[in-house]
Amino acid sequence: MFIYTTKACMVKMSNIVPHEHKLTRADRTAIKNHHPVVIWFTGLSGSGKSTIANALEERLNRVHHTHTYLLDGDNIRTGLNAGLGFAEEDRQENIRRIGEVTKLFYDAGLIVITAFISPFRRDRQRVEELLPAGAFMEILIDCPLEICEQRDPKGLYLKARAGQIGEFTGITSPYEAPLAPAITLASHEYTVEQCVDQLINYMLQKGIIPPLPDTQI
Ligand code: ADX
Repeated sequence: MFIYTTKACMVKMSNIVPHEHKLTRADRTAIKNHHPVVIWFTGLSGSGKSTIANALEERLNRVHHTHTYLLDGDNIRTGLNAGLGFAEEDRQENIRRIGEVTKLFYDAGLIVITAFISPFRRDRQRVEELLPAGAFMEILIDCPLEICEQRDPKGLYLKARAGQIGEFTGITSPYEAPLAPAITLASHEYTVEQCVDQLINYMLQKGIIPPLPDTQI
């Protein structure tokens, strides 16, 4: 049996025997103040994914005292995924690896927050399929391309329009929005805190995090 990772890397799996761990996700979760979940942000560059993801993580930690971990595009691409580019095959591998890391953190019982453009439906769906049903919360950061381009926080849209960056999402590479996201956040119409409020309310409704004691509300 072979597992396919990239064209350059075919690894023989026949001599690999995974070890069954004694401690399960249920054991790890039982001592936490929340249910593990994957909060998967998707949207164009400059749409606000990282900003909202950071604010959400901060609120979950400081106010709700839950255990979280945030995986973010530019950060992962400087480490684990350094060396991957932006061709479709590279983005597919980027999201595949992130999906596997996400699964590990989820198994650890954490609330995993991810902020990647993840432009292809098929790649996001593969991550969802790695996880138990209901564990994957897809959040669309729905900001029009014109506004992302005006914001251009890293100056990349300018370079993409000038032809200095190829395969730039929204300009020369496609973005496939989710067909049925758990939540759509119009980041150009609401403040970051309002977006976080919507996410927290959803998590409360779904019982992912418990209500705060009266004294903290
Ligand atoms: S993804 O498409 O593979 O999911 P990812 O979220 O990891 O992308 O990285 C996106 C970040 O890389 C952008 O926010 C931007 O800073 C940077 N970037 C550099 N080149 C490109 C490009 N061609 N398309 C999109 N983003 C790019």
